[in-house]
Amino acid sequence: MHPLPLATGLSLNRIDVDQFSGPLPGAADRYQYRRRKNYPVPRIFITGSTDGLGRAAAGALLGEGHDVVLHARTRERAAALSDLAPDAAGVVTGDLSSAAETRELAGQVNQIGRMDAVIHNAGVYLEPSRGTTADGHAKTLAVNTLAPYLLTALIDRPDRLIYLSSGLHHAGAGSLRDIDWTSRSWNAARAYSESKLHVTALALTLARAWPEVVSNAVDPGWVPTKMGGPYATGDLEMGYLTQTWLAVSNDTAATVSGGYWYHRQRQAPAPQARDPAFQDQLMDRLAALTGVALF
Ligand SMILES: NC(=O)c1ccc[n+]([C@@H]2O[C@H](COP(=O)([O-])OP(=O)(O)OC[C@H]3O[C@@H](n4cnc5c(N)ncnc54)[C@H](OP(=O)(O)O)[C@@H]3O)[C@@H](O)[C@H]2O)c1
Repeated sequence: MHPLPLATGLSLNRIDVDQFSGPLPGAADRYQYRRRKNYPVPRIFITGSTDGLGRAAAGALLGEGHDVVLHARTRERAAALSDLAPDAAGVVTGDLSSAAETRELAGQVNQIGRMDAVIHNAGVYLEPSRGTTADGHAKTLAVNTLAPYLLTALIDRPDRLIYLSSGLHHAGAGSLRDIDWTSRSWNAARAYSESKLHVTALALTLARAWPEVVSNAVDPGWVPTKMGGPYATGDLEMGYLTQTWLAVSNDTAATVSGGYWYHRQRQAPAPQARDPAFQDQLMDRLAALTGVALF
């Protein structure tokens, strides 16, 4: 028997290869083969997969034959997934600005089964006002920080966690005292930057607290999506390939926890994101705001 190495570390033996009726060169072919043979295929959940980077990442992973669970804000928005959904392992819905819908969303994901990886991608950018949610939170905090925190706590723990950060998280450093913008005057850019510092710190906290999980944060660069706008100078493909790589690759670099990545290169995150005291304080604030303790 001559083992045929696969990207994910499993191998096919020669008899299996001889039984394969089609060509075998591409990752997609190998995964389709494994799917037919009931070999395990990595299953990835991506929040905010109706548009932009989430949708592009979902398309790339589906193209490689992975199982992907898609997410739309509403059933109406799920129509945007009509081309990807037939190949997906499931489509789940829920508005991440609502704690109740976010909890319900976690339940839908768990019903499908345990994920191998979760890409916390959904996000909002410059909200014109605090935009108080039904739970009383600033919308930017609710969608960008509280939702990934809640989903992390409520979804059956995967092997890998990826959080979409931004280079702007460096501008979010400072106090956690008014994290929910109840006393400060609204500043959309500052709120976004803080939310990205939060998820970067969350990713690095989990790398510290859950050694069995590979947890990383990614800056996709400034790329032309609904959020990035038409004048963004970054490469959209480079903007999603790091998170897909962290989700499924067995490259040594992709299986190291606690990184902050840009275009598959590790970068230095803001010092606060790495600071255990800041991380602990943030986890306490998020537990208080959501009523859910992660640890
Ligand atoms: N684009 C950039 O230049 C850039 C730079 C740095 C970081 N990032 C980060 O990368 C991630 C993806 O950004 P993108 O550029 O792909 O943004 P995008 O094109 O605006 O897509 C955002 C996705 O999140 C979903 N979403 C937003 N609010 C939601 C809510 N309340 N409930 C459920 N889903 C919601 C959107 O759903 P709908 O389609 O229904 O709106 C969409 O699927 C974000 O976390 C962002 O902060 C982007």
